[in-house]
Formats: sequence, C-alpha cells, structure tokens
Amino acid sequence: MKTLIVYCSSHGTTTKAALLLKKKLEGDVVVLNLNRTKLQSDVGLFDAVIIGGSIHAGHIQGKIKKFMKENRDVLVTKKMGLFLCCMREGELAKEQFENAYPMNLREIAVATGFFGGEFLVTKMNFFEKQIVKRVSKVTTDTSRINESAIGEFAYLFNRKHSLATLDVAHSSYMVAEELRL
Ligand SMILES: Cc1cc2nc3c(=O)[nH]c(=O)nc-3n(C[C@H](O)[C@H](O)[C@H](O)COP(=O)(O)O)c2cc1C
Repeated sequence: MKTLIVYCSSHGTTTKAALLLKKKLEGDVVVLNLNRTKLQSDVGLFDAVIIGGSIHAGHIQGKIKKFMKENRDVLVTKKMGLFLCCMREGELAKEQFENAYPMNLREIAVATGFFGGEFLVTKMNFFEKQIVKRVSKVTTDTSRINESAIGEFAYLFNRKHSLATLDVAHSSYMVAEELRL
C-alpha cells in the first residue's frame, strides 16, 4: 500500500509527529510538509492519505484547508487518516478537530488522533511568545508529544478492516480490548 502523509508544521512539532507515525506504518509511506514543498504527484496515485496539522489561535493551517478543498473529490475515495497537534485537551481539542477537518473526511477516516504538542518558546517570534505567555503562562520550551496516541493511530490505520464508527474517545479502549484477545 502507498500512503501519503501530508501535513503543515510551524515550529517542527507536527514534523516530529509525522515522522514518528511514518516509522510505525506498514507499506510505502511518503511524508510531505506543505509549508516546504508542493505535491508533485497526483493524490490519486496513493491508496491512502493521512492529513495532519497543528492549531494556532484555534485554527489549522490554511494550506491544509486548501489541500483538502482542492482534492475534495479524490480524498473521499481514499483510505483516510486525520491527526492534530495541539496543546488543548479534552472537549476543547475535540472542538478544534471538528473545526479543522470537514465532516465528510472525519466520517470516513479509519484513524483519527490527537498527538499532543509542544510550546517551543525558543522558536517563537515576539508576538507568539506574548500570546503563549498570556494564554498558557508558558515561558520555557515544553513538550507533550503523545507517542502512545501515535502508536494507537498507526495500529488502527494498519488494520486490514476499518472500524468505521470508531471515534477518538473510544480508540484507546477498543485497541486495549483487541490486544487482549
Ligand atoms: C501562537 C500560538 C498559538 C497557539 N494556539 C493554540 C490553540 O488555539 N489551541 C491549541 O490547542 N494549541 C495552540 N497552540 C499550541 C500549538 O498547537 C502547539 O505548539 C503545536 O505543537 C504546534 O505544532 P507545530 O510546531 O507543528 O506547528 C498555539 C501555539 C502558538 C505558538
């Protein structure tokens, strides 16, 4: 199987997450950062597409939105996965996820995940530092990448049969149950 992981990253955290995910996926995996490169080949050449991005001031990167819009028709024919890097958790993270990805892709995704995030203060510009300090009281580099969430996502994505109705909240439970069998 040929899989495309297409993502955007502002300070490098989503890049780290995408590369960790790539290591855990079966088959040929191409990783593409839309901030740096344009997709040279046709999305139609891939069997599966995983889209990832990070949240800044409540929104995913515009390039991810543009990619989903431009490839709307072909994406719904693919095995899909969606993930997000962000520092919010729980309901707020879920809201951000629903705002970031359109319902038609969320519904067909065989794996969805929150991979945590990082506040890399040393990479932020003046304004970003002010926002993060004000909103989250963070002034030093802080890392909360969730490697087990990446593992669970890869496990679901590698499965031969999809769990079409699986949602984020149930994924840990169901993976744990299945591993017990
Ligand atoms: C200026 C700024 C605004 C942010 N706003 C949000 C936010 O609204 N919600 C959230 O969950 N995380 C927010 N974050 C945290 C980022 O999602 C987190 O730093 C993520 O790891 C960034 O990944 P990237 O380096 O791949 O872009 C913000 C971070 C910065 C620097």
